[in-house]
Amino acid sequence: MNSVDNLENATKQRFRCIPVPPARHVPGIEEDARNGLLSRPRSLPPKYFYDDRGSELFERICKTSDYYPTRTEDFLLRQHAQDIIQKIQPSRIFELGSGSSVKTQRLLDACNEIAHFPSYTAFDISEHALLFGGETLSNRYAWLEINLLLGDYEAGFNHIPRENGSRLILFLGSTIGNFEQDRAVRFMNDLRANMSSNDRLLVGFDRVKDARILNAAYNDKEGVTAAFNLNILNVLNNELSANFDPENFKHSAYYDTEKSQVEMHLISSCTHLVTLSTLGTTIEIRTGERIRTEISRKFTNKSLHNLLGQAELDVEQDFVSSDGYFSLVLAKLV
Ligand code: AVJ
Repeated sequence: MNSVDNLENATKQRFRCIPVPPARHVPGIEEDARNGLLSRPRSLPPKYFYDDRGSELFERICKTSDYYPTRTEDFLLRQHAQDIIQKIQPSRIFELGSGSSVKTQRLLDACNEIAHFPSYTAFDISEHALLFGGETLSNRYAWLEINLLLGDYEAGFNHIPRENGSRLILFLGSTIGNFEQDRAVRFMNDLRANMSSNDRLLVGFDRVKDARILNAAYNDKEGVTAAFNLNILNVLNNELSANFDPENFKHSAYYDTEKSQVEMHLISSCTHLVTLSTLGTTIEIRTGERIRTEISRKFTNKSLHNLLGQAELDVEQDFVSSDGYFSLVLAKLV
């Protein structure tokens, strides 16, 4: 091992994830599977997609030509990062669901350019994603002080320290679309309760658009989304000692115009038994039966204003991509 490797190892060990105690009870995979899988219609919360393989598949989805949200949001960030940083002059950037942190770099690059040096906190449910993001950012920005918080942001933010200065809080990728309205409002409310009047929230919203574009985005030609959807069965196998055979299921995703949401399902192609040892039960899944694995809501000006308004947040600025596909919304306390 040469000195560069040693240095890299030393860098890796600089990072430690701080566990955030939940402010309220959030069900774990056992409870979620019991509630979602043993009743009809069967469903699972989409957060269970993201084991190591699922996170890797998601990164690949983001690079497919059919999946427009990531690149559209990234373009918006490149366009507006300097304005946003200049205006808010955040003393801290606080990111929820840090993912691969590529998009965060657009904001940190803007900080670099105007020599404004905030610190950075990431809050995520995946230790792997946190450490990877932390390492990537520390290698790129020597000045950056980094804090990694490990926890479920659906459990509230009571244990997240506020800041004396101003925070720029990031919730990117249109992850908000994964929550039903009441859950989305509760989440935004929790976040708002942790904000001060100097703080700003930057949220990515995927917008309502032609159904063909949406259907293509969730049925990419390379089949990466299908693999991502099916991988949730491997997560169940690993976490609940289950014996799902992904070969017995087909990926399905379609845009429901009425509900303004994409729904992803796994459809059983045969009648078969699945044992979930941890839950101490065996279920029969019949031909054509579905497990709903995700909703991904699409927003209009009206619905996004309504969501933020219900959480007592005001839209300060809405940066819409030129094709109208995606919005980055800057929000503040009412
Ligand atoms: C990261 C949750 C926003 O809903 O578009 C991508 C996840 N699912 N392809 C989305 C996802 C299928 C994605 N979010």
